Amino acid sequence: MLVVGDVMLDRYWFGEVSRISPEAPVPVVKVDRNEDRPGGAANVARNAAALGARVTLLSVVGQDEPGRRLRELLREEKIAARLHYDRTIDTTVKLRVIGRQQQLLRIDFETTPSHEILRTKLSDYARLVAACDVVVLSDYGKGGLAHITRMIALARRHKKPVLVDPKGDDFVRYAGATLITPNRAEFRAVAGKWKNEREFSDSARRLRSKLKVDALLVTRSEEGMTLFTRGGRLHASAQAREVFDVSGAGDTVIATLAVALAGGTTLEGAVELANHAAGIVVGKFGTAVVRPEELFAKQD
Ligand SMILES: Nc1ncnc2c1ncn2[C@@H]1O[C@H](COP(=O)(O)OP(=O)(O)OP(=O)(O)O)[C@@H](O)[C@H]1O
Ligand SMILES: [Mg+2]
Repeated sequence: MLVVGDVMLDRYWFGEVSRISPEAPVPVVKVDRNEDRPGGAANVARNAAALGARVTLLSVVGQDEPGRRLRELLREEKIAARLHYDRTIDTTVKLRVIGRQQQLLRIDFETTPSHEILRTKLSDYARLVAACDVVVLSDYGKGGLAHITRMIALARRHKKPVLVDPKGDDFVRYAGATLITPNRAEFRAVAGKWKNEREFSDSARRLRSKLKVDALLVTRSEEGMTLFTRGGRLHASAQAREVFDVSGAGDTVIATLAVALAGGTTLEGAVELANHAAGIVVGKFGTAVVRPEELFAKQD
């Protein structure tokens, strides 16, 4: 599998809160533990690798400590990282400060990669796409997918399925993809609001034909997910037994879909699997992964 997109480092600082700062009315957290996880497109790669896929991740990071940390984490997860270093940017970091079991603050660092770096990345892509079974483009809106229209066309020319997790209000750039997976908010931003299920389905059908994508899968948080294809509509209801942390569920969805499709599962079967995987991952802390043992465990 080839995963391309915006990578980030999800960093968690845990600590004790025992007093209020004398400088401002805010708690002071004495940090005693740090946890780093690959985020964004790197979390998609990690989810696919956890399911047993051989994954190459193509992306851009800064020449800094978080960029090196990401490379190290990806190596531990046996993901082949093709990271381009851009001296002009900071690696995207989402730093959460957690005290007394709750998130007190999130601090984001991010910058858009430079044009030259993105061009070299595109020529790298052209080589890598020929060697994979499936392509996932994970757009987190940080500018790493400036050439996405070209990337989709190249994948299609090589007859590879190309799955896109979209962002923003311009979906025309995803035209021609095999499958796109907007969440509710992303779908609403391009298709407008709906009053009932019928209006929702009508606008989904319209959007699918307008973009000329084979399939549109709207992930709908606690409502599950709905697939639209030329053949019709399939709804999978949410399966979570307990919900602990929904962040990263979308990454698990697209990774599971891609692994299943590359393995020869039908689109409908892949959606059922992805929905099941999402139901498991929302029961875990932070951005997490699902393993095949969990996905295929007998349910009581
Ligand atoms: N609160 C929830 N209860 C049950 N299942 C959930 C819940 N939130 C998410 N899921 C499952 O995860 C899937 C993807 O979630 P969602 O639609 O929120 O994606 P997302 O917004 O892209 O997630 P993220 O951006 O945090 O990765 C849903 O289709 C559903 O199967
Ligand atoms: Mg998402």
